[in-house]
Amino acid sequence: MVTASAPGKVILFGEHAVVYGEPAIAAAIDKRIFVSVEERSNESIEISSTHELRDGYPYVKAAAEITFEYLGSRRGLDISIDAEFPPASGLGSSAAVSVATILATASLLGGEIGKKDLAQLGHQVEKRVQGAASITDSSVTTFGGVLFIKPRLEVAEKITTGSLPLVVGYTGVGGSTKEVVKNVGVLRDSYPEVVDPIIHTIGQVTLAAKKVLQEEGDIGGLMNINHGLLEALGVGTERLSQYVYAARKAGAFGAKITGAGGGGCMVAYVPQNQEGVAGAISDLGGLALVAGIEEEGVRIER
Ligand code: PMV
Repeated sequence: MVTASAPGKVILFGEHAVVYGEPAIAAAIDKRIFVSVEERSNESIEISSTHELRDGYPYVKAAAEITFEYLGSRRGLDISIDAEFPPASGLGSSAAVSVATILATASLLGGEIGKKDLAQLGHQVEKRVQGAASITDSSVTTFGGVLFIKPRLEVAEKITTGSLPLVVGYTGVGGSTKEVVKNVGVLRDSYPEVVDPIIHTIGQVTLAAKKVLQEEGDIGGLMNINHGLLEALGVGTERLSQYVYAARKAGAFGAKITGAGGGGCMVAYVPQNQEGVAGAISDLGGLALVAGIEEEGVRIER
């Protein structure tokens, strides 16, 4: 048996704007998905999971299939999955499970895959299942750390930061990324002269944040601005805002929606009192995760 694991992610800056060519900053978090792969005596692929992943495990199946195509050989497999964060919550579970499945399967079959190819194959899995996908999730889960995403070039550049103590709050409702992205598109078509500057400003916030991160400064203020701009794009929900305000009140330096919105998660930057901020979110019925940056991307577990 071979086990591989890969981290989840949060988008710190630039979600939605990245769809229109602006940069974004995403970070791997120290919560992982574990995929164990064992050879079977017949040709089929059997999958089990401790968490409820998407029906029929489309990402896991496509990841195994794409690995077989890459290596030019195939086996029957028993695949089992365990997760330290809720799937389908906007924390990148699809990319993490895909990339971990690819690495575990390749390793079981004796194949070698470098990180660059892993990220690319992970991206292919997401495209095959979803039709379209950005490189954000597959890059972050493969390489770990904090990444600056340049969508036009399809390039992810690692940026060096200080420690980033975070608290993630999950509403328990998985927002549909496709739907929320579509709604932003409709808003933009209705009022391009209003919405385009908001998208551009989010890009400016991301550029400013990159500098602050590299100087190991306080990103809280910029997160709050980014949250307001996401609200302006209509991707907020009452519950997300409740968690954001509760987090700030409990001492977070900044807090914002992370990912698509419309449900899903918020993230707070919490240099002091992570437990207090997590408690404030839990008190409102949210699932709070105390998290930090994970420097290591996908890996084999020993
Ligand atoms: O909630 P998530 O992890 O699916 O993030 C979506 C991020 C968007 O910018 C809204 C869409 C995208 O593909 O970049």
